[in-house]
Amino acid sequence: MYNHSRMSILSGKHILLGVTGSIAVYKAADLASKLTQAGAKVDVILTSAGEKFVTPLTFQSVTGRRAFTDKDLWGDEAHVLHVSLGKTADLLVIAPCTADTMAKLAHGIADNLLTVTALAATCPMLIAPAMDGGMFDHPATQENLKTLQTRGVLVAGPASGHLASGLKGVGRMLEPMELLGHIRIALGKKEKLAGKKVIVTAGGTQEAIDPVRVITNHSSGRQGYALAQAALDAGADVTLITTPTALTPPVGAEVVNVKSVQDMLDALLKEKGDALIMAAAAADFRPKSAAKDKLKKRDGIPQIQLEAAPDILKTVAGSGSGKRRFKVMVGFAAESRDLLENASEKLKSKGLDFIAANDISATDAGFAVETNRLTLLFADGTQETLPLMNKSEAAEKIIEHIARLLE
Ligand code: C5P
Repeated sequence: MYNHSRMSILSGKHILLGVTGSIAVYKAADLASKLTQAGAKVDVILTSAGEKFVTPLTFQSVTGRRAFTDKDLWGDEAHVLHVSLGKTADLLVIAPCTADTMAKLAHGIADNLLTVTALAATCPMLIAPAMDGGMFDHPATQENLKTLQTRGVLVAGPASGHLASGLKGVGRMLEPMELLGHIRIALGKKEKLAGKKVIVTAGGTQEAIDPVRVITNHSSGRQGYALAQAALDAGADVTLITTPTALTPPVGAEVVNVKSVQDMLDALLKEKGDALIMAAAAADFRPKSAAKDKLKKRDGIPQIQLEAAPDILKTVAGSGSGKRRFKVMVGFAAESRDLLENASEKLKSKGLDFIAANDISATDAGFAVETNRLTLLFADGTQETLPLMNKSEAAEKIIEHIARLLE
């Protein structure tokens, strides 16, 4: 997943985190910490089995808030607590969720603070099952899982791998960063791009010279991946068409792997959506033909003849169907001089709704760094200069404009 510090989707959100009795609780403490660091208000409820593995103090220390246990169910506030917690939360996350708690949830059993809260809660629920492989595969658990999914409960994982029993199988709770991705998707369902489809291209294209060598560029894919994450946070269904990068795609994005401009164009021509963001640094020139075998040094210095690569945006827009297939089209202009003039020319020639102009001569913006300084030029002649900001923040600004144009 794309690991960046800014997670404004989580800021100010109230997350209820149920922790049940599985050894995966050690990951839950990390999850609670990450959610808190991202600005969420995290209220933890431990089951009594959860308390056998870890104390409320662990969670209190990372969330800065009191963690609840079954003692609170029978305490003074009991009559309101189980109702109030679930009423004010934006999301109830149960991680780890044992087979036992899944069974209780599926059957409406409410015999502890967590399950009674789950029954009273009006917010969406996301569970992260964690159990031994045999328990997860058991028909009883599988049926409970189906029941919960039919009721709209979101299920993250489990993954396959090493289990506490020493066996390998399906039952491992997802890692905290992956769970964070699922939580973002769950929260995004109420955001402004919910139900919309956004296609993002990312990375530098690779044009083969021979089976070993390519012509490529310095694009890291960071801005594109940040845009994919920002679109997911805004609730969109996202397809990320990407060249090979060092980044992990955001949880929830449908990933299409490509290398050359031609691959990227072919992949894009199969897509339809509300918005297309061409953040990829696609080649303008490519070798006329790639050698079938590796070019050998002993044969002398090769003369590589270049030709124009297809212009993806022009092809998509020029096919006449561009506006019908993508209601909003956004491009990028990475320039080392005459930034705004070049960007404005591209905006028009490529038939875009807006273009993000990027001065790559600066050392703190553009390729491979975490920050960017963009000027957005719109088809109606207006422009907005964004200050130096994190690429995730820049992505959120671009997504806000797309949402506005789609309104
Ligand atoms: O004119 P230039 O190709 O530099 O414009 C940059 C914009 O056009 C970017 O959004 C880039 O992704 C896109 N592009 C394209 N097809 C190409 C090269 C760039 O669509 N072959």
